[in-house]
Amino acid sequence: MLEKRLREIGQDHIADLVKAKSPYISLKRLEQDLGQIDSKTLMDLIEGKGIFIPPEGKMQPPDVVPADFAHTKDAKVARERGEDLISQGRVAVVMVAGGQGSRLGLSGPKGALGISPVKKKSLFQLHSEKILALKKRYNKAIPFLIMTSRSNDADTRRFFEANAFFGLGRDEVYFFVQGMMPSITAEGRLIISRDGGLFMNPDGHGGTLDALKKSGLLGMLGERGVDLIFYFQVDNPLVKMCDPLFLGLHVQKDAQMSSKVVEKRDFDEKVGVIAVVDGKTRVIEYSDLKEEFMYMEDDEGRPVYRAGSIAIHLFDRAFIEAITVRGINLPYHKAVKNIPTIDQYGRPVEIKGIKFEKFIFDALPFAERTLTLEVKREQEFAPVKNKTGQDSIESAISLQDKLFRSWLARAGRIVENGIKVEISPLFALDEEDLLSKASALPSKIEKDLYIE
Ligand code: UTP
Repeated sequence: MLEKRLREIGQDHIADLVKAKSPYISLKRLEQDLGQIDSKTLMDLIEGKGIFIPPEGKMQPPDVVPADFAHTKDAKVARERGEDLISQGRVAVVMVAGGQGSRLGLSGPKGALGISPVKKKSLFQLHSEKILALKKRYNKAIPFLIMTSRSNDADTRRFFEANAFFGLGRDEVYFFVQGMMPSITAEGRLIISRDGGLFMNPDGHGGTLDALKKSGLLGMLGERGVDLIFYFQVDNPLVKMCDPLFLGLHVQKDAQMSSKVVEKRDFDEKVGVIAVVDGKTRVIEYSDLKEEFMYMEDDEGRPVYRAGSIAIHLFDRAFIEAITVRGINLPYHKAVKNIPTIDQYGRPVEIKGIKFEKFIFDALPFAERTLTLEVKREQEFAPVKNKTGQDSIESAISLQDKLFRSWLARAGRIVENGIKVEISPLFALDEEDLLSKASALPSKIEKDLYIE
């Protein structure tokens, strides 16, 4: 059976190993892995079909709601609308945490990293506490859906169990596992993994939509009356969870998928930008943005294409239903990577292979109506990607510290350099929240301070 299936999909080199009863392969693992592979998708990818092609077409910058809109009267109306949606139980959260955190060289889930300035709370704890604080504020539970992948699912569940779900109800937290994709060689051959199966990787954050549908959780949300899904990535401790302004604007515009952006730091910043190509909103990756657009200046000398995506989106549940039911497949992006495998004598070696991943933002062009909201980077974005330098654990800690200091400064509390501060989401979720509780703050801050 196994041998036949392998031959059918053009993988004679592995079928031969099965036939020869090679000691370096595990029939059980091979069967499991093959069970996850859709033959048609694999054959298409080997033939170069279904692979992302950068769009050619008429490029325009998107309409962006600017960051200072947040201080207008209209913003107040939109914010109240968003707050109503949360109070009515119409909002759920999807956090993607299935990545491998390879740049950080982690063995466990990235969400377990201790990242807050004083207490070193984990990303999982920070996000859970934000949801708990919203639940208390709006008197309504918010379903918290966490996407994991094969290699970190058990550890992630265990982490939440061991920490009593950080105060959330067990019935409010849902885990779902994303799909896997096999890597191939340049010749289209599947690669044996060191445990005797196939070398597979999680299918990218774009796998979220299929996984939500397949797990039945999308249907569950529908039954609960949830029609909006707030999407974010586990590695951003500054995420403004279920931002009511974002929710309100999305609904006012009757958008199907919305995105938050920050202004690019400079023309060259390596970030994907939102653009409109042939009338469709998209994220154009840095490597796909042509020079003429990358360096295009507006009248004030700023990049025309400056709406840098921070991977925070809002989805209409009905939109996800529609694109998953109709079977619109997101394209796969190819990346050439070093892949650990074995040679013919079973010795560990690394070879160059092609890894396939789907990206969530490729759902944008399927939406007829989108909304793009600009926010201030220092208030909402501190990604943890690298071991050192930019977008590292250290930078994310210092950005949180800076933000908390700025809130405290508004409340008239100046914190000396060298002192660390941390404000628990359970004390204040944002600056306004903190200002409303200013009387509870110490008048002088002379040592490291955690406010709960
Ligand atoms: P990244 O692309 O930054 O990947 O994912 P990563 O796994 O965190 O780190 P590297 O690239 O291996 O160093 C951005 C977000 O998307 C999630 C990650 O968990 C992170 O929250 N993600 C990524 C998934 O959930 N699944 C994937 O297949 C890929």
